[in-house]
Amino acid sequence: MKNIVIFASGSGSNALNLTRHFKHSERARVVAVFTDNPQAGVIDKAKLEGLPVVVFTRAELNSPGKLDDELASFSPDLILLAGFLRLFPQRWVERYAGRILNIHPALLPAYGGKGMYGDYVHRAVLAAGEKEHGVTVHYVNAHFDEGEILLQRGFTLKGGESLDEVSEQIHRIEYDLYPEAAERWLDLHAL
Ligand code: GAR
Repeated sequence: MKNIVIFASGSGSNALNLTRHFKHSERARVVAVFTDNPQAGVIDKAKLEGLPVVVFTRAELNSPGKLDDELASFSPDLILLAGFLRLFPQRWVERYAGRILNIHPALLPAYGGKGMYGDYVHRAVLAAGEKEHGVTVHYVNAHFDEGEILLQRGFTLKGGESLDEVSEQIHRIEYDLYPEAAERWLDLHAL
């Protein structure tokens, strides 16, 4: 059984979706949620699912110490960033190389990078009059949104969509794509 640890900063709907997806899986399960935001909706969602939640500060994230031990104590095989808004630290990118995925609400490499998250992405896409938008799941390296792409799914924008409509459509795609990408990672790393 492979252990999945989720990192999230916000409402945590992807975290919940992933947790439920793996609840009855025979090859992986979500074992903990880590968050940098003590107000994040993901905390209650994870607790209701019976998961341990680790809340940490920016300083703890960015310097080796107790948090490294806490993460290691869950023996993560796979780390899934689901709306995690901080840069994943270099020491963990090295320690868990090839085992960290992120979901980004755009068709990378377009609309990625620092400050490009959530509705900021959708606003920029709509303002540019793009004809296509979508979701990317990619490996994490030490730069925002730059690792190798694992899976991507787009949809056509007809024009005139509201921000809410686009955000909902993106989330619908994410709820399919992230579990699918995690399953694909598991296929690639099956013993
Ligand atoms: C998701 O749309 C995810 O793709 C995005 O944050 C949202 C979190 O929603 N991530 C980024 O923008 C990362 N750059 P959720 O808290 O409901 O899962």
